[in-house]
Amino acid sequence: MNSRPAVLFVCLGNICRSPMAEGALRVAAERAGVNIEIDSAGTGSWHVGNPPDSRAIATARSMGVDISGLRARQVEPSDFHRFTHVFALDQQNLADLAVIAPTDAAAELALLLDIVPGMEGQPVADPYYGGDEGFTRTWQQVTMAAEAILERLAT
Ligand code: 4NP
Repeated sequence: MNSRPAVLFVCLGNICRSPMAEGALRVAAERAGVNIEIDSAGTGSWHVGNPPDSRAIATARSMGVDISGLRARQVEPSDFHRFTHVFALDQQNLADLAVIAPTDAAAELALLLDIVPGMEGQPVADPYYGGDEGFTRTWQQVTMAAEAILERLAT
């Protein structure tokens, strides 16, 4: 287990929601001066090695955050030892992660929006098959989650 907090965001493809969450937390942590390891991964392998979806990159860029250098990878059981917190973007991701997690997992596994007061139980909906507004909503949700994570890690 790491001594500093280490946060992994996991969605399905690791090209839309989780890289946006990674970018949002990276920037928020930098601004807050918090030293934290941050990564993202997908439960699926289709997009391994690919950059985030162009719409995810554009949405993050419009908020001043560059996620174009990120590359997709698939989550693996060892992630549950490397990270202190594994956040699933939706309930299906959470169920898939519960299957992958080793029985001696060190990481705390949770649904991402459970950390945001008033948004408990809500998924970060997959924007992949929708329009640009879905990506804006994703950005808003992962930004709120990033602030909540920083608050929780600071206490
Ligand atoms: P993500 O979105 O899980 O937020 O990265 C998706 C990206 C790709 C696919 C599904 C969801 N796909 O089926 O290829």
